[in-house]
Amino acid sequence: MDKDFKDFMGFITSEVRHIKEVVGNKRVLCGLSGGVDSAVTAAIIQKAIGNQLTCVFVDTGLMRLNEAAVVSDVFREQFKTDLIAVNAEDRFLSALKGVTDPEKKRKVIGELFIRVFEEEAKKREEFDFLAQGTISPDVIESVPADGQSAAVKSHHNVGGLPEKMGFKLIEPLRNLFKDEVREVGITLGLSEEIVYRHPFPGPGLAVRILGEVTKERCDTLRLADNIAVEELKNAGVYRDVWQAFCVLLPVSSVGVIGGERRYGNVVVFRAVNSKDAMTAEWSRLPYKLLASISDRIINEVNGVSRLMYDISSKPPATIEWE
Ligand code: XMP
Repeated sequence: MDKDFKDFMGFITSEVRHIKEVVGNKRVLCGLSGGVDSAVTAAIIQKAIGNQLTCVFVDTGLMRLNEAAVVSDVFREQFKTDLIAVNAEDRFLSALKGVTDPEKKRKVIGELFIRVFEEEAKKREEFDFLAQGTISPDVIESVPADGQSAAVKSHHNVGGLPEKMGFKLIEPLRNLFKDEVREVGITLGLSEEIVYRHPFPGPGLAVRILGEVTKERCDTLRLADNIAVEELKNAGVYRDVWQAFCVLLPVSSVGVIGGERRYGNVVVFRAVNSKDAMTAEWSRLPYKLLASISDRIINEVNGVSRLMYDISSKPPATIEWE
């Protein structure tokens, strides 16, 4: 709508002015995750300071299938920006070895992420600023509502940050909700494919693998997840759903394959409708679609014997399973 468009143009103009003032002639490092928030963050900063921006994509090994390739293709092509891709899968998986507590996973990932950034920064010219795609719910949910109770969770972008980092932070989307971030992205001229991607959490598959995170479990989940997304796209409902993904449970369940009893992994498929991730309803997807997702995952992903569909709404059930 025209009025909204003007509002988002106004937001962009004033952020661009602010970023220019704060950054001056210094350099900014921006993490790209492949998600909407970091993409829009990079785009707005690029608009403000052009080639003073360098983007870094850290492949944590906890990403979706082919994510590293997609991110480097899209951002090198579309952003025409200086993009450094770092493969840190081994480091992340070894840091996560034996870690099962979700909050501990978040801290481990958040800290290592920043360290990898600092190392990249030190290898190149001086960077003074770190840009992050923190959005409003990240901030709200990381701060105890009454100042006493535990925060809902430590967000990778917020609570996971180590106290001593070598950068000043720039977070241009800090006061926006996801639908606003998308409008800003479209207004900035980003493609719909990027802007309407489902949200993906900073700690990635680590919060969708319950129990220990291993390469094998990441690979299993990646394949299952990719099938689910493919089926949603084939059915033409990907954009009707706020977020859809698979979760790998730390339990096995029996199946009969070739007349033999075999214990396999249980995968959960979650799809939710939401406006801002603060509340969410499970998506009433057609049975036919659920059936094809289930058939394909069980037949095509080695070691998966059972698929569940999560019919819990938020609150109280969060979108991620942790
Ligand atoms: P929950 O699970 O709290 O998630 O209902 C709300 C939204 O936030 C996403 N999410 C994250 N995003 N870093 C992020 O950048 C995180 O640590 C994180 N944890 C959850 C989640 O995918 C959902 O869209």
